[in-house]
Amino acid sequence: MNTDPLNIVVLISGSGSNLQAIIEAINAGKLHAKISAVVSNRPNVKGLERAKSAGIVTHTLDHTEFESRAAFDQQLMRTIDQYQPQLIILAGFMRILTDDFVAHYNGRMLNIHPSLLPDFKGLNTHQRALDANVSQHGVSVHYVSNELDGGPVVLQALMDVQTGDTADSLQQRIHSLEHVIYPMVIEWIAQQQLEVIDQQVYLNKQKLTSPAKWINNQLFT
Ligand code: GRF
Repeated sequence: MNTDPLNIVVLISGSGSNLQAIIEAINAGKLHAKISAVVSNRPNVKGLERAKSAGIVTHTLDHTEFESRAAFDQQLMRTIDQYQPQLIILAGFMRILTDDFVAHYNGRMLNIHPSLLPDFKGLNTHQRALDANVSQHGVSVHYVSNELDGGPVVLQALMDVQTGDTADSLQQRIHSLEHVIYPMVIEWIAQQQLEVIDQQVYLNKQKLTSPAKWINNQLFT
């Protein structure tokens, strides 16, 4: 491949297992990208250790040390922009972002959310899915817009809810799916297969009328 790897910055707040999956996909040659930096809003989290072990530059910007959300986001933008990334990856980044921040990265920021959006936006998605007695649950990769967990969805992995499932068991299975589909979508961007124009997603130049689906290890578009 002749093109430069896709330049990405990953934002985390915790364990960073998705970050790890992205690092491993890059190392395995499955993802043509380079993580220029990992930024956490929480000090001493496992994701920072994972980044350091992989030789990636890390920054900790502790949001509790900023006087306002806007001040934090401005500093976060400055931190990110020194790497001139083509794509910002939110991987368990537990912060609500200001409109200015979202507008600044319009069309080049992705999030992964553990539900089949638009269902169960926000927190505690696994328990809420159980409480709602759904037969299918899943996870969504979406572009970030001003609305929380509300931007255009690119790909969803679906799985059946089984008798006896708990929030923990759902979370475990969802996590394994996340680790497959997040690197997959990033690779689509690296290969210039994915575009978002006016909130509409195009995969291989085809308009997605509904999100692409990943079911039983198979892709449906
Ligand atoms: C994942 O469940 C993701 O869907 C959500 O935050 C969690 C991050 O997990 N946005 P990890 O830090 O990548 O392990």
